[in-house]
Amino acid sequence: MPIVQRRFRSRVLSLVALIAPLAMAQTTVRIDLAKPGLPVSPTLYGLMTEEINFSYDGGLYAELVRNRAFKNHGYTPEHWSLVQDAGGSAAMALDERYPVAGTALTTSLRIDAENASPGHRVGIANAGYWGIPVTPNTSYRASFYAKTSGASGVPLTISIEGVDGKTVYAQAEGGRIDGQWKRYSVTLATGANVKPTADARLVLATESPGKVWFNLVSLFPPTHKDRPNGHRPDLMQKMIDMKPGFLRFPGGNYVEGGSVTNRFKWKETLGPIDQRPGNPGTWGYRSTDGMGLLEFLLWCEDMKAEPVLAVFAGYALNGESVPVGKELQPFVQDALDEIEYVTGDVSTKWGAKRAKDGHPAPFKLRYVEIGNEDGFEKNKTYDGRYTQFHDAIRKKYPKIKLIATVNGKDWLGQQQKLSSRVPDLVDEHYYYNPMEMMNDAARYDSYARSGPKVFIGEWAGQEGSPTTNLHAALADAAFMAGMERNADIVEMSCYAPLFVNVNPGGMQWQYNLIGYNAQSSFGSPSYYAQKMFSNYLGNVSLPVHAEKVSMQTWQQEAKKETPQDVPPAKQVPTMFFSATKSDQRGEIYLKVVNAIGNAQTVQVDLAGAVKVAAEGEAIVLSSTHKEDTNTIAEPTKVVPVTSKASGLGKQFSYSFAPYSVTVLVLSTK
Ligand code: AHR
Repeated sequence: MPIVQRRFRSRVLSLVALIAPLAMAQTTVRIDLAKPGLPVSPTLYGLMTEEINFSYDGGLYAELVRNRAFKNHGYTPEHWSLVQDAGGSAAMALDERYPVAGTALTTSLRIDAENASPGHRVGIANAGYWGIPVTPNTSYRASFYAKTSGASGVPLTISIEGVDGKTVYAQAEGGRIDGQWKRYSVTLATGANVKPTADARLVLATESPGKVWFNLVSLFPPTHKDRPNGHRPDLMQKMIDMKPGFLRFPGGNYVEGGSVTNRFKWKETLGPIDQRPGNPGTWGYRSTDGMGLLEFLLWCEDMKAEPVLAVFAGYALNGESVPVGKELQPFVQDALDEIEYVTGDVSTKWGAKRAKDGHPAPFKLRYVEIGNEDGFEKNKTYDGRYTQFHDAIRKKYPKIKLIATVNGKDWLGQQQKLSSRVPDLVDEHYYYNPMEMMNDAARYDSYARSGPKVFIGEWAGQEGSPTTNLHAALADAAFMAGMERNADIVEMSCYAPLFVNVNPGGMQWQYNLIGYNAQSSFGSPSYYAQKMFSNYLGNVSLPVHAEKVSMQTWQQEAKKETPQDVPPAKQVPTMFFSATKSDQRGEIYLKVVNAIGNAQTVQVDLAGAVKVAAEGEAIVLSSTHKEDTNTIAEPTKVVPVTSKASGLGKQFSYSFAPYSVTVLVLSTK
């Protein structure tokens, strides 16, 4: 998609770092406990999500069948194949003549079992999203719509088996299919001796001749909290471990859509999955919308995180924008309806719909974001569009904080001023290479305090793919230290993208936080850096003053278009600091990044402290090489290690490991 590619390119800057640390006298850090400090927003660290890199389908959304409703197709359905065993013969074809009445299921898959008899089965097979994960002692829920042409019926067998058909891991009778569309469900249970594999497929087969039509063929493994239509447990646990304050959804570009017609239509994501038509997506593949608005909200609830609801604001990725005024009004109403679905009690139209969908209790909603990256819009209509949404939402929901996507700041390199209304927060996005990010880590130290608060709604240090490496994590930690020091202006932040399916073809964005395939998942070093910052957040940001920090020289590469203009080298700090305290726990968290390959000793002075215990804890993320990273094969190569720290006190000296992020936990009890 051209627009998407343009945006992608704009983030991937061709920069090169030549690092030569300059020797300096010993670094000192003074943390001023006599000053009151800044309250830290409990929503400082959250998560951002959208359907990219197979984040939901083929990712968090636990459905294992790919193209379950046959919406991805040319002449043949993608990801489906014909099974014809031992001389059995059949044909398969897509068929639009028999939609399943009362559903969004329009295209079915027909199999003509011409030659089928005991020992000569025929059927259809689906190998999932790069495989179907099989584990021992596991129950899978399979379901499907089916019908036949004849009255006599066709018996079906459902199995999870090896892709070569030789090993059957689990099998069940699917019932005798008759002439009416019906939904069938079976449980497929694996035995204790099954060896874990993803080299498997789901097969629906018969040993009787006849015609059978299928639709919405689904297979779910156990899900988080065993919820039907639920989420993958390992990925849920990774996010819960981060203790996110909020979840920003559903985008990103995904909320905008490729065109106004193909925007994220939340009303089409509600109710039973057979009611959801799905959408073309913005990242080159269709979405089933199995992950609908209610599933996003349940996801928040499961993480104890607040929703940050992004609403479509009349601007799509192909550049279309809906004119302000009458034409925009239905979209404003759609956003009001959406907020009502989230927050309304059961006496409201959309609150009642939510109750019908299974969640009578309203969700708490404090933040609504109007659009996404509207600074890219050529026609520059955001001021008017924002105003129309702002006024309508503010009138009906005066307590909700409104987030604008631009406010005349130059983070996009493009100006779109909001002159008519003042949002509560502005969403800024930063995708940097690590040196660029470290160079900009102090950006909020000198940021104007007069405007709205900042929501860093997308950010990442970008190095290492498909998930980022330790160098990127060091830069991320440097940037987060800057957020914490400036807790008075930075209210929220969330890294992007969150997820990537690491299989070939699974990735659309090069640098991501958490990677997975069908069987397992891993966090990048950046994931662990965020987990450390979020788990040791505290409620007050303390003033930190560092001196004699050694610098490294960073030489940017010239841009390809202007190779003659080599930008001047920059001096970038090698260490970064922030300090917060938790009044509740009586602890101080000193966060220190050492971005170079030598240990660095720092003299720490906790000025004004009454008591600091000599013993504390050090949580350290480091590795030998800054390029080190985690992968499916080595998921824990770079992870934080917790150990006792001694020799601490009101003043102490501490040696920070090469290429490290450290949280020193100091007890004031
Ligand atoms: O995070 C990937 C994309 O980057 C988001 O969808 C978009 O908002 C930004 O351009």
